[in-house]
Amino acid sequence: MILKRIFTVMLALALCFSVSACGRADNGRSEEQTESLANGTQQDSQTNESEGSAEEPAPGADDDGTQTQEDTAQKEQQDGEDAAQDEQPAGEGSKGQAFDLEAGIVMLNSGYEMPILGIGTFRLSQSEAEDSVYWALRDGYRLIDTARIYGNEEGVGRGIRRAIEEGFVTREEIFVTTKMWTDDYGNGAAAIDASLERLGLDYIDLMILHHSAPGSDVSAYQAMEQAVSEGKLRSIGLSNYYTPDDFDRLVGETTITPALLQNETHPYHQSTEMKEHLQQYGTVMESWYPLGGRGNTQTLFNDEAIVEIADAHNKTSAQVILRWHLQAGNIAIPGSSNEAHIQENYEIFDFELTEDEMQRMTALDRNERFASY
Ligand SMILES: NC(=O)c1ccc[n+]([C@@H]2O[C@H](COP(=O)([O-])OP(=O)(O)OC[C@H]3O[C@@H](n4cnc5c(N)ncnc54)[C@H](OP(=O)(O)O)[C@@H]3O)[C@@H](O)[C@H]2O)c1
Repeated sequence: MILKRIFTVMLALALCFSVSACGRADNGRSEEQTESLANGTQQDSQTNESEGSAEEPAPGADDDGTQTQEDTAQKEQQDGEDAAQDEQPAGEGSKGQAFDLEAGIVMLNSGYEMPILGIGTFRLSQSEAEDSVYWALRDGYRLIDTARIYGNEEGVGRGIRRAIEEGFVTREEIFVTTKMWTDDYGNGAAAIDASLERLGLDYIDLMILHHSAPGSDVSAYQAMEQAVSEGKLRSIGLSNYYTPDDFDRLVGETTITPALLQNETHPYHQSTEMKEHLQQYGTVMESWYPLGGRGNTQTLFNDEAIVEIADAHNKTSAQVILRWHLQAGNIAIPGSSNEAHIQENYEIFDFELTEDEMQRMTALDRNERFASY
């Protein structure tokens, strides 16, 4: 297994050196790169707008979504083996990291493979999360996205164990992502141990900081770096960093290049600037709200261009949007507690959007987010 991993990393390295935009497979950064980034200005991407009920709690909110005074004040201050196959051209906007659309994986700059389609669990109760994760793993999904703030890590862990016990998947085949909440940034090591405990796992495939928080996110990220060296985390990354400067601020003060950035990304907010910026690091974009998010999905599902493309392929709008994400080089994690939707969302590997259709999808970009954080 170790030899296999070494071989995988060597292949990834060879591939990355041949692709100028690719990041290092050992997840490190050159001194020059680190130095040049160290001067990045501090800039917060968060806004102070209030959230709609369908949204995730704002950073600094308590578990019930209540904003704490301290955090409000803070906010006010801030505004392997498949590596060789990755030669297949990446989708638009993903020149650094080639998605293997056949195998449904991407090689991260950490040297680990990650599935490009997964199940999201935001707003799912413990039992809903358990069922959704179980159904997803049964249907072929291998990527699961949760977060401490969702309050369902235990349920996710139960769904994983059910699937493993029934024998259709092994732990090694599953890729689990969780997120460190902003309240925990002051004691990242404890937050990591607590997530491991709640999930019932002895390692987490990917942990990401849930939100940018200048002043506290660097030490939180360093706690994740330490956990990588201890084998508790395999890859680490970020979520909700919306400007190159903010991303570079964090990168300039830390050692391990983020493997992934998870931002709101969908046809009306295609994250073009950030995706271009990420290429130099070999960091991959992952889309949250890939379908627009609860309460907004019909806006995208009824978009005329998306409906026409869906009709042409005899697919649903949801399937077309998800297929677009993958071809555009975005990892997608649609959330659902509906067994039929979960199955439908995975049936997107049997058709392909034409170049013309991809261009029509690209033209839908309005740089408009559904969420306000
Ligand atoms: N990092 C962050 O700050 C952040 C923020 C938000 C979300 N996330 C992550 O990203 C994941 C995805 O975002 P999301 O779940 O909020 O939004 P989403 O995936 O864009 O949309 C979820 C909505 O789509 C519906 N849906 C899913 N598949 C469908 C289908 N085939 N047909 C019709 N409706 C369908 C779901 O309803 P049903 O349950 O009825 O299927 C639900 O209402 C989350 O679950 C979470 O893991 C991260």
